[in-house]
Amino acid sequence: MTTRTVAERRRLLGLKVGDGFTRHPFDEEFGVRTSGLVAGRHLKSGHRHDRHATAYYGVAPSVFRALVRRWQRSRPAAVIEEFSFIDVGAGMGRAVLLAAELPFRQVLGVELNPTLTRIARRNLTVWRALGRARTPMKIISGDAVEFRLPAGPCLAFLFNPFGAPVMRRLLTAWSKALAGRPASLDILYVNNELESVLERQPGFARLFLGQIRRSRADAIADHKIMANQPEREYASANYEDCSIWRWVG
Ligand SMILES: C[S@@+](CC[C@H](N)C(=O)[O-])C[C@H]1O[C@@H](n2cnc3c(N)ncnc32)[C@H](O)[C@@H]1O
Repeated sequence: MTTRTVAERRRLLGLKVGDGFTRHPFDEEFGVRTSGLVAGRHLKSGHRHDRHATAYYGVAPSVFRALVRRWQRSRPAAVIEEFSFIDVGAGMGRAVLLAAELPFRQVLGVELNPTLTRIARRNLTVWRALGRARTPMKIISGDAVEFRLPAGPCLAFLFNPFGAPVMRRLLTAWSKALAGRPASLDILYVNNELESVLERQPGFARLFLGQIRRSRADAIADHKIMANQPEREYASANYEDCSIWRWVG
């Protein structure tokens, strides 16, 4: 067994220039730290779900904003001010920051990796100081499956955070929590690799399935980041495959 120092445990491969790190223009514009591409195998927290983590990568702001606008046109069960937004696998918090620009009741991010959690919390402090947060926001450290949905209407956001075993456990936990409850749950799913898991889960109806294009600036930035990966294991296109789901009980 090797003994790793605290500094070594905290370092995530994919966050240094030598690992192919390239800064996204979102970070340059706002002075936050959400760039980097950390392969799933480097995301260790000690939890049994670590081995199902896909990767850390921040969502393209243009895709996030377009998908939320599409959701707003989907006749949600309540006004946005009543919805809690939950980023399932919040990483460094880019989606949380973007959601907090909207008047949700609250914006929560759940993240399993402690290093990413720490970085995300710093980003939230910067966002508040910039005056960009219109709503309370918080990063919760822990596993998404163990996180309890807050009372009232919820909008969950998933940017392909984990593999099928965790996705199935998450949907089962949500179905149990929502059974017989008058509240609503909508899901925004970006890079929807596990669409078939949702299709097989009773109680969820799909409202939208399609591609959402990145803005030109996001496409250029993401292509550059992907091209710099030392092992070239991840890819990006000019669009993301996305879906929107609603709990119908
Ligand atoms: C692709 S990143 C998405 C980051 C963020 N949602 C965004 O869009 O900017 C997926 C994140 O999910 C996290 N994750 C993976 N498995 C998880 C779990 N079981 N519980 C909570 N977070 C998890 C990873 O650590 C990673 O930060």
